[in-house]
Amino acid sequence: MDDPAATAARLQRGIVLKAVAGTRIVGSVQLVVDDAVGLIERLIVAPDWQGRGLGTRLLRAAEQIAPAEVTSYALTTGGRSERNLALYRKAGYRELSREAQTPKVDLVLLGKRRRRK
Ligand SMILES: CC(C)(COP(=O)(O)OP(=O)(O)OC[C@H]1O[C@@H](n2cnc3c(N)ncnc32)[C@H](O)[C@@H]1OP(=O)(O)O)[C@@H](O)C(=O)NCCC(=O)NCCS
Repeated sequence: MDDPAATAARLQRGIVLKAVAGTRIVGSVQLVVDDAVGLIERLIVAPDWQGRGLGTRLLRAAEQIAPAEVTSYALTTGGRSERNLALYRKAGYRELSREAQTPKVDLVLLGKRRRRK
């Protein structure tokens, strides 16, 4: 996890979206713009809200809110989290690279091009 100062520095270049149910934050995602690439980070949905499409909606919202200079999106996830990989594949992401982080954990880089309307 980042320390608070690193998080603050990172978010100066980015956008945080939250999903709210009543007074409760039930999901969130961050978009960090790195030149023409929109980095999708920290997608998370509260356990009791998972499996209802909220993660997918947050991901789409982060893509749509990206400024015009963003022409592709990238994100990383754990290679063993089949659920997460399925979500991203369904949203159009393809595996770009995979590297072993530890003997048991792969880090997978996924990406997709932005579609222009
Ligand atoms: C990953 C995460 C954000 C997904 O959010 P979500 O709201 O549950 O996602 P969705 O409801 O949009 O589901 C999209 C797809 O994910 C998969 N999925 C979601 N819930 C699932 C479940 N209970 N069982 C199996 N697959 C599931 C399915 O492929 C699903 O597609 P489908 O609805 O067409 O079957 C959420 O599970 C989460 O917060 N996990 C912990 C944090 C994390 O791992 N974040 C990702 C960092 S890379």
